[in-house]
Amino acid sequence: MTPIKECLINKSTKTNPIWLMRQAGRYLPEFREIRKENPDFIKLCLNPNLAKDITLQPIKRFDFDAAIIFSDILMVPYGMGQSVEFKKNFGPSLGSLELNKLQNVTKNDFTKNLSSVYKLLSSLKNSEDLENKDLIGFVGAPWTLLVYMINKTSPKNGLSGDFFKDEILINEVLDLLDKFIKTHIENQINAGATIIQIFDSWAGLIQNNFDKFLYNPTLSLVNYVKNLGVPVICFPRGISDYVKFSKIVKPSMINIDYDVDPGILTKSLDIPVQGGLDPKFLLSSKENLKKQVKKYLEIFKDHPYVFNLGHGILPETQVEMVYELVETVRSYK
Ligand code: CP3
Repeated sequence: MTPIKECLINKSTKTNPIWLMRQAGRYLPEFREIRKENPDFIKLCLNPNLAKDITLQPIKRFDFDAAIIFSDILMVPYGMGQSVEFKKNFGPSLGSLELNKLQNVTKNDFTKNLSSVYKLLSSLKNSEDLENKDLIGFVGAPWTLLVYMINKTSPKNGLSGDFFKDEILINEVLDLLDKFIKTHIENQINAGATIIQIFDSWAGLIQNNFDKFLYNPTLSLVNYVKNLGVPVICFPRGISDYVKFSKIVKPSMINIDYDVDPGILTKSLDIPVQGGLDPKFLLSSKENLKKQVKKYLEIFKDHPYVFNLGHGILPETQVEMVYELVETVRSYK
C-alpha cells in the first residue's frame, strides 16, 4: 500500500507522507523554462507530453509521495464550452456564460474536449517514477467553479451583490456542474487517478445557504467518489468550522488551511488530516521553517497526517527551502 493510503485507509500514524499543493509550478526553474515557450496555459495543460514532464518534475527532485496531475480546476468550465484564458499578471479570465449553449453539451462532448487530460493520466499510470506513489486527480468544488463561471475572474475583492441576482441561472449552473464534475472524476479514475482532491478555494466567501452552496454539492461528489472505491480529500479553504464540515461531508481526509488552530482540530476530528503550514514560511529562514514544520508534526504525531501546505506553494519560493522542508518531514521522529 502507498504511504498516503496507509495513512488514509489504515489510519497509520507511523510516517508522515508528503506532497505539496501546486508542487508542479512556477517556483521550479524547469517549469518556467517550459512555460516560457508555451504562453497559452490551457494549451499547455492539454499537451499530454509536456504536462507529463511537468507533473513528474517535482517527483524527480523531491521524491514526493504523490504526483498531482498538471491541469487546472478551470478545465471543467472549459470542457463545458465556456472560454477560459490565463492572462499574464492578471490570472484567469472566462468568457460569457451562455446557458443554452452549456445545456446542449453532452457528457460525450465534454469527455472529448478534455480527452488530453485523461491521456495524461493514462501515460502516468504505469510510470516508473510513480512506483509506490499516488497519482492525484482533482476537481474544483461546485461553489468555487460557480464563482469563476459567473464572476469570470478570481473574486479577490469579494463578490458583488449582483452575483446572486439570477437565482435560476445559479441553480441551473449548479446542476450542470454536479453532472460534469462527476463525469470528470469518473474519467480521471478510469484513466488512473488513485485519489481525488476537491478544491473549494473560495468556500470562505460563502455567508449564507451553506447547505445549498457548500454541504450538499460537496457531499454529492464525495459520495460519488467513495462509490467508485477511491479515497477523496476535501479542501474547503477559509471556512470557519472544519469539524462541522467533516462530520457532514465525511471525506476520507480533510486538508486544512493556515488560519485554523491545528491543536484544537486534532482533538475534535476523527478523520485523517492533511496540510496546514502557511506557504509564506517557505519564504522565511530555514530555522523558522523547521520550527513551524515541527509544530505541525508534533501536534499531529498521534493522528493520521499527510504533510502539505495550507494553500499552494508560492511562485517566489526558493527550491532550496523545499529540500529543507522535505528533509525536516522525512527525518522527524
Ligand atoms: O501542482 C499542482 O498542484 C497541480 C496543478 C494545479 C494547477 N492549478 C496549475 C496551475 C492545480 C491543482 C490547480 C488548482 C487550481 N487552479 C485552484 C485550486 C487551488 C488554489 O490554488 O486555490 C484554483 C483556484 C485554480 C485557478 C487558477 N489557476 C488561478 C486563480 C490561477 C492564476 C493564479 C495563479 O496562482 O497563478 C491559475 C494558474 C495556474 N494553475 C498556474 C499553475 C501552475 C500558474 C500558471 C502560470 O504559469 O502562469
